[in-house]
Amino acid sequence: MDIETVLPSWDGELCSVRFDPETGAWFVIAVHSTRLGPASGGTRAMIYPSVGDAVADATRLAAAMTTKMAVAGLPMGGGKSVIALPAPRAALDGDRWRRILRVHAANVQQLGGTYITGPDIGTSSADMDVLRETTPWAFGRSAATGGPGSGAPATALGVFAAARAAVAEAGLGDGDGGVAGLRILVQGLGAVGARVAELAAEAGAELLVADVDAERCALAAARGVRVVPPSEVTRTRCDVLMPCATGGLIDGRVARTLPCAVVAGAANNQLADAEAALVLSRRGIIYAPDFVANAGGAIHLVGREVLGWTEDQVTRRTLQIGQTLRSVFADARTHGTTPEQAAHDLAARHLADAA
Ligand code: NAI
Ligand code: PHE
Repeated sequence: MDIETVLPSWDGELCSVRFDPETGAWFVIAVHSTRLGPASGGTRAMIYPSVGDAVADATRLAAAMTTKMAVAGLPMGGGKSVIALPAPRAALDGDRWRRILRVHAANVQQLGGTYITGPDIGTSSADMDVLRETTPWAFGRSAATGGPGSGAPATALGVFAAARAAVAEAGLGDGDGGVAGLRILVQGLGAVGARVAELAAEAGAELLVADVDAERCALAAARGVRVVPPSEVTRTRCDVLMPCATGGLIDGRVARTLPCAVVAGAANNQLADAEAALVLSRRGIIYAPDFVANAGGAIHLVGREVLGWTEDQVTRRTLQIGQTLRSVFADARTHGTTPEQAAHDLAARHLADAA
C-alpha cells in the first residue's frame, strides 16, 4: 500500500503525515469530514507494515467515523489518527512513549480544533491526560482528572443492543432479541470485548472467546469459558459472531463459508471488501453495520464532553442503537439492499440535510 494509491481514492478533507526522528514514530491525522462539526475519532497506536498502510488505515477509519457520527445523530464530523510505532507498545519505555504522545498532541494542536481525538486501540484515558497537557482537543480524559473516562463500557452496551436487534432480525432465540441458549463467539477480549462477553454470559448465552493474548485467554478459561484459537474464529460454528478485535476480519471469501447466523461486533471496518456485505446478505447472515453498532463510545465521549449529558442520558442514547438497527434492517428489506448499504444511505441523508 502506498500513499500515491491511497489518497487519490479517498474523499476526505485533509491528511497530515509527520515523522519524528527522535522516536522513530510516524504520525497520521486524517480529517474526513467537518460537515456536521469538528472531525472526531480516536488515536490508534500500533505497528504497521509501511507508512502507506498507516495512511490507508487512518483514512478508512476517518471515513467510518463520519458515517458513525451521522447515523448516531451527533454534531461531529469524522477523523482518525494513527501512530505507526517503531516497536511494540510494551517495548517502548515511559520516556519514549511520552515523547510520542507529546508530538502527536502538538500535531493535533496545530489543527486548532478541526480534529478532536480520543482513545482507540493502543491508547487509553491516561494517554488522553498526557495529550491534554499540550492540547485541549482530546476527549476521554481519565475520571481521576475530571474527564468522563473511556467509552469502552458504553461501546459494549451498544454492541450488545445491536446484537440483540440482529438476533431478532434473524428470528433466533425468543424472537425479541433474547440470547439465552444461543452460542456467541466474542473475538477480542480487550476493553470492549471483555465487557461484551460478560453481558452475553449474564444474558444466558453459551459463550466462546478468542484472543491473541494468552493471558486474557487463560483468564477466560479459568472462569470456565471455552477458548477458540484466533485462527479458528471464522471457522467455528456459532449463532452470533462478535468481532471485537481489529478490523478486516471478513472479506468476500470468508463470508462465503462463515458458519454463523449473525455478525455484530465492536471492531471498526469489520468487512474487508465491498463483496463481503453482499455475500453475507445473500446467505441470510444478518450483519449489524459496525459504525452503527459501535457508536456507544462516541455517544459517551461527545455526549459527556460536548453536549453535557449525564451518564443516564448516555445510556439511553446508547441503547437506542438497537432501535436504529431495527429500522436499518427494515429499510434494507424494503429496498432489497444490504443493512450496510441501508445504514450508509441513512448517514448520507443526515449529511445532505446538513449541507
Ligand atoms: P483493545 O485494544 O482494548 O482490545 C482489543 C483486543 O483484541 C485485545 O485483547 C487484543 O489482544 C485482541 N486481538 C487483537 N488482534 C486479534 C486477533 N487477530 N484475534 C483475536 N484477538 C485479537 O481494544 P478495544 O477498545 O476493546 O476495541 C476493540 C475494537 O472495537 C477496536 O477495533 C476498536 O477500534 C473498536 N471500537 C472501540 C471503541 C471503544 O470505545 N473502545 C469504540 C468503537 C469501536
Ligand atoms: N475510538 C472510538 C471509536 O472508534 C471512540 C471514539 C469516538 C474516540 C469518538 C474519539 C471520538 O468510536
